[in-house]
Amino acid sequence: MHITILTLFPEMIHPFFTSSIMKRAIRKGLISYDVIDFRDFADGVHKKADDIPYGGGAGMVIMAEPLSKALDSVNAAGKRVVFPTPSGKLFTQSYAEDLAKEEELIFICGHYEGIDERISELYVTDEISIGDYVLSSGETASIVIIDALYRLVDGVISSESLEEESFSSPLLEYPQYTRPERYCNKSVPDVLLSGHHRHIAQWRLDKRLEKTMHSRPDMLINASLSMDERKRLLHILDKEDQRWTLSKL
Ligand code: ADE
Repeated sequence: MHITILTLFPEMIHPFFTSSIMKRAIRKGLISYDVIDFRDFADGVHKKADDIPYGGGAGMVIMAEPLSKALDSVNAAGKRVVFPTPSGKLFTQSYAEDLAKEEELIFICGHYEGIDERISELYVTDEISIGDYVLSSGETASIVIIDALYRLVDGVISSESLEEESFSSPLLEYPQYTRPERYCNKSVPDVLLSGHHRHIAQWRLDKRLEKTMHSRPDMLINASLSMDERKRLLHILDKEDQRWTLSKL
């Protein structure tokens, strides 16, 4: 997959592509990337890339021309062009799965009060929000989206890890422990040291149900659970006297 990022702040992008799993994916030839500073396409000595909004209002809007020249320089027409914005469609795991199927993706990083609407109309295929809050830079939102999708590209991480995640999709993850066995007077749960695989699996399922119930009860209400999962959940809810959640299931 090839990823192009159009930005006014290339220095915010490079560290992500030169670290950790992304660095390895690039070394293996699974991902390639370009960062384009679209100020290079702006006119005049000051290379002005933003201007005040028509109709008045606070802040600055990124101008159409430098962006369209930058987009044309990478032949963006007909390609998937993502613009992260708080007014876009909500980003989810299935959205990441859909984007991960593309051979090429182009990201436009906005700043200030956004970009000239005509760029959205002419080039953007996906306006995406990563959540109900406002960030100061589109770069951080682009990196969140790229991080979620590139790991789904074949070969980037092991298929076992992805499979485990997809099995656990309606529930949150169970807690993990590593050495030492005792830390700050807290011990690793005995069951994890027992070597008893069925008991470990049971404990992990209970923890996932508990975690989901406390952090994301909305996910439980919509989840399609197996008979065993339902039984364990009802038992946990009863034990914790979670009558409100119980009444919704
Ligand atoms: N830019 C600023 N805030 C954002 C958000 N919540 N999602 C995507 N892009 C953004």
